[in-house]
Parts: sequence; C-alpha cells; structure tokens
Amino acid sequence: MTRVLLLGGGAREHAMAQALAKSGAELFVLSKARNPGLARLAKDVKLAPETDVKAVAEAAKQWRVELALSGPEAPLEAGCTDALADMGVRLASPGKLAAEVETSKAYLRGLMARHGIAGAVRSQLFASPEGLKDAIRGFGTVAIKPVGLTGGKGVKVSGDQLRTPDEAEQYAKDCLAQRVGGTGGVLVEEKLEGEEFTLQAFSDGTRIEAMPVVQDHKRAFEGDAGSNTGGMGSYTDSDGLLPFLTRNDVQTARGIVQEIVTALAKEGRPYRGPIYGQFMLTGQGPKVIECNARFGDPEAMNVLGLLAGDYLEVCEQVADGSLKPGAVRFESLATVCKYVVPPGYGEAGGKAGIEVFADERAILEDAGARLFWANVHEDKGRITTGTSRACAVLAKAPTLAEAERRCEAGLRHVRGEGLRARHDIGTQALLRQRVEHMQRVLHQGRSRN
Ligand code: AMP
Ligand code: GLY
Repeated sequence: MTRVLLLGGGAREHAMAQALAKSGAELFVLSKARNPGLARLAKDVKLAPETDVKAVAEAAKQWRVELALSGPEAPLEAGCTDALADMGVRLASPGKLAAEVETSKAYLRGLMARHGIAGAVRSQLFASPEGLKDAIRGFGTVAIKPVGLTGGKGVKVSGDQLRTPDEAEQYAKDCLAQRVGGTGGVLVEEKLEGEEFTLQAFSDGTRIEAMPVVQDHKRAFEGDAGSNTGGMGSYTDSDGLLPFLTRNDVQTARGIVQEIVTALAKEGRPYRGPIYGQFMLTGQGPKVIECNARFGDPEAMNVLGLLAGDYLEVCEQVADGSLKPGAVRFESLATVCKYVVPPGYGEAGGKAGIEVFADERAILEDAGARLFWANVHEDKGRITTGTSRACAVLAKAPTLAEAERRCEAGLRHVRGEGLRARHDIGTQALLRQRVEHMQRVLHQGRSRN
C-alpha cells in the first residue's frame, strides 16, 4: 500500500481523497480544520496550516509517506512541495517555481509572450500608479488584477464591478497601495468577452493528458449576480464538450496547455501535477484568463467523479514523469456540482458556526448523488460552518438534465439555518442563456471585422 500525504481540507481535497482511497492508497491528511469526509477516509489527520513547511515536513517524516500532493496553491508557494521533494518524497504537485504559473500572473503572461503561445491576452504590468490612467483608457474596457494570490477574489472587470475608467483606475491604485496579492504589482488587461471554461490536465513535466472541460460559476448569486467567489458550482457534459464549445475549441485549449507545460520545462521549471487552464472562448477562439497549479475547486469534483482508471497510478506516473498516453480515462457522463454556502458568503463574509445537517445516506441512495465536505468543522459529531463554502453535492448521469435533477434531489437533504446554493447552475434555462450569449459575441465579432 502506498502511503500518501494530502495537503488541504476542502471539498476538492475530499474528492481527491476519495479517488485515492478507491485506488487503495493509505491516506494521511494535513489541514487547518477537521473535515469530516477526509477524517473518515484518512488513516490519520494532523491539524496545522497547510503552508507550515516545518509541520508538513515533520508529518511526512512521522507518517513515512512515499507520495504527496496538495489540493490548494498556497502550500506550493510556501515551499512545502520543494521541502518534501528534498526529503525524497515523490510529488504529484508542482514545486514553487513551476507553480508561479498561478502564483504570479505576471510570470504567466511573460511566459506566454516569451514562447509565443497562442491565446495570449493584451496585458500591462504596473508597480506604481504612473501610466495607469493612459493604459486603462487605451484598453477601453479592462480587467484589473493584483499579481499575486487573492483566493480568486482580487480581479475586477469593467461593467458592473468597475463602472467607469475612473473606478478602474481607483481600484488599481488601491490594489497597489494596499499591496493586494502581496506583491505590490497590478496587471491591467484587455477585457475579454465570451464564455468561460476550464480545461484541466495531468502533466508529468513533459506531456499532458487532458480532462473533460468544465464550466464553473464564480458569481455568488443566481443569474450571475453579485461578486466573484471561489466558485458556486460547475458542470460537464457527457460528450466532453460544453453546449457553446466545439471540439475544435477544446483541441485549441489542450494545445495551449501543452505549450505552457513545454515552455515551463524549457525555462527549467518542469511541471508535474494537475494543471488548470481558465479560458475565455472569444470571437478569436480560446484565450487564457489564468492558469492554476492545481485542480479547480469545484471542478476537481466533476472530473474526479468521472475518472475511470486508477487515480493513484496516474499520480505515480505524474510524479515519475512517465504519464502514458491513454493512461487517463473518463466516463462519458454529465456531471453537476453545486456548493452549499453559509449566509453572507459572497457578500460581507460567510456566517460561521451554523450547524449543518446532511443526510449522506439519503443523498447517496435516494438521490443518487454524493456529498463532499468543505469549510466545516466537526466536533463531537456536530458539523458547523466556517466562513467559506460548506459542502458540495455532485451528481452524474447520462444527460446534463438528469445530473442536474439528481444534484437538486441531493441538495434537499442538506439543511441548516440560512444555507443556500445557486439552483440555476446546470439548468436548461441557464445553459440556453450561455449559448445565446456566445452567439451574440460571435455575431458582434463578425460584424466588426
Ligand atoms: P482570475 O482570478 O484571473 O480567474 O479572474 C477572476 C475572474 O475575473 C475570471 O474568472 C473572469 O470572470 C474575470 N476575468 C479575469 N480576467 C479577465 C479578462 N481579461 N477579461 C474578462 N474577464 C476577466
Ligand atoms: N474554481 C476556480 C478555481 O479553483 O480557481
């Protein structure tokens, strides 16, 4: 039995742990809070910040782990994977330098420019407010992005978030003054119009094996209202495409992710682990919004739920740089995943301490869905919310409509005061809106040219 260390304690990690357990791994978990799902699957759990390199190294030594992987990005940036590699542990997550594709948005933009990778976005880096005004007005509509990590909540775009160029300029100045993202740098980028999708792939340092494409829903409320969150829910379709996406678009996105992996290797930063491309399908094809050095959350639940082969074997091939073509297979089913969040999440801040009642037997047996625990804490059998997403329900089925129905059936077995979910995710009505939106974008692109 391979002894595996998993860093992180959310629903993404619960899904990773479940896939690892299914392949017979002996699982050890280090995370900040006690996730009841992980606690059930793991041989042992240590409560510590996942970014505490010393605690991680000590736990790895004590547990004599052979392979390690991280759910979130922060441990990569903190140097945990590098420290584990130095101890001789095999890694199915990237080291700190390779992880800069996510932890430094400026590095990713530079990498794509240096290697002439398709799907690049016009972008300008600022370390001080000089020149901001002209750049913002030059682009017309913009995305303002702190360079470093902000937990998916630092980016604002022209529109309902930044109503005028002055507001955009003020937000960029605030990011610089408050050192949002930690680095003091801010990127001004052209605003892309289109539909977003996620393409994840396993990389062994040289080559990739792509996963089914997913669409996440970042906005807090139904109808895409409210601010950006870590992600409220996501879906995949049984043909591996999305209703607004062609096979050709997916091929283009895969090619771009492969080129990023190749470029990283050329810069002496071989990337081993799951890599995440966030794309905008525009009138000019897929463009890269960002790249993450990990699975997406919630997207990990969709794809791992479909993984047909042995996940541990995939992790071992990733770690050893020997990913075999065709080693990763996925079921041809649709999935819908929806998060349950505490009141206030996506606004001032989620309300912690609310008791969550989830009937996991009914979710599994009556609804045909699956529950993943996220930012909750278990104490003497009582499960209470933290300030972030509490748990997620995932369903898979031959069609999207059926997966959505099962997911909703599962959600009815999760209760707690003020808890809510975005019930529109995966519905035919929202899917139709997405397709119509994409048609409008393509039409406008054509009439401009
Ligand atoms: P990120 O943290 O880079 O994923 O950005 C968060 C969200 O901001 C993305 O999911 C997009 O919805 C939006 N966004 C980021 N960059 C752009 C861009 N250049 N154009 C339009 N929207 C963007
Ligand atoms: N779902 C978006 C992310 O994990 O970054």
